[in-house]
Amino acid sequence: MSKKLFLSGLQPSGKPHIGNYFGAMKQFVDLQNEHDGFVFIADYHALHSLRNPKEMNENIKGVLLDYLAIGLDPKKVTLFKQSDISEHTELTWIFDTVTTMPFLMRAHAFKDAEAKNKEIDVGTFNYPVLMAADILLYAPDLVPVGADQKQHVEIARDIAEKFNNTYGATFKLPEPMILKEVAVVPGTDGRKMSKSYGNTIPLFAEYEEIKKCVMSIVTDSSGGIPQNVYAIHKLVRSEAELKKIYEEKAGKYKELKELLVEDLEKFIAPLREKRKEFAKDIPKALTILKEGGEKAKLIASKKMDEVREKIGVKVY
Ligand code: ADP
Ligand code: TRP
Repeated sequence: MSKKLFLSGLQPSGKPHIGNYFGAMKQFVDLQNEHDGFVFIADYHALHSLRNPKEMNENIKGVLLDYLAIGLDPKKVTLFKQSDISEHTELTWIFDTVTTMPFLMRAHAFKDAEAKNKEIDVGTFNYPVLMAADILLYAPDLVPVGADQKQHVEIARDIAEKFNNTYGATFKLPEPMILKEVAVVPGTDGRKMSKSYGNTIPLFAEYEEIKKCVMSIVTDSSGGIPQNVYAIHKLVRSEAELKKIYEEKAGKYKELKELLVEDLEKFIAPLREKRKEFAKDIPKALTILKEGGEKAKLIASKKMDEVREKIGVKVY
């Protein structure tokens, strides 16, 4: 029996944080041994918020190093960059023609932008359609993401169904894979950890940065247990151990935070060191990305050929 396939991606929109890691990236690494996998850099998605070419270029290399540093093995997983595979944007157009405006207007990202009275570009509105193309071209069984991406995977399912009903069975319906315990990792202020809230602990932080982030955690205690500290601590130490420690040190917030700094450092230091190693040879890392792109292209172009035939534009 052939292995199941997973697919996921991250935008090169800034430094990843431990919420990204526990919510999504760790699953990529865990899945790669039993599954085939595609993990990509969603650079065209990031264009809606990042319009500085130099920064875009740096960030793309950054995500590649992040992927390698967390332990993604290019022998097991195909790593590639969205903009290398023009089929993603081509299929987006075709999906646009079977997707209605009211349907996309229900998407959380659009509703949030609208609620904030932001000027919404067509790319932001269309974001879930590009994501549907990213997924459906490769027919994955699983799409590991954090809870905030669940709706996007559901939109991809709906678009696949709409296309299949119109033109005949073409796309496999994907399933989101969301681990309950880490679906929403809280940030230093107790809200969802997110780059846009400035409440993150960077995944590759240096020791001093870890310390600064942890010391800034808002301590809303209940029974002497600082909830926000505990919620982050349980990502890097077992709850059985933590329960004992937090009972013993009830009310001693500073000591508990100091312990969290040490535990985070133990977890982050090896990742940080590995990333520095990979950063010494960027051309080698880029070769991995380029070769991954060539592999992905074969699959995507075959699927697009089928799509062109299904919609009737293929004449030779
Ligand atoms: P951010 O909100 O920081 O910009 P992204 O939107 O780039 O994060 O998310 C990248 C991946 O990490 C997605 O799969 C997303 O669901 C996941 N993720 C982001 N923040 C969290 C969080 N706080 N808890 C769990 N998963 C998260
Ligand atoms: N939208 C996702 C995010 O912000 C990134 C992404 C783009 C993605 N295309 C995807 C994730 C396809 C999974 C599958 O995190």
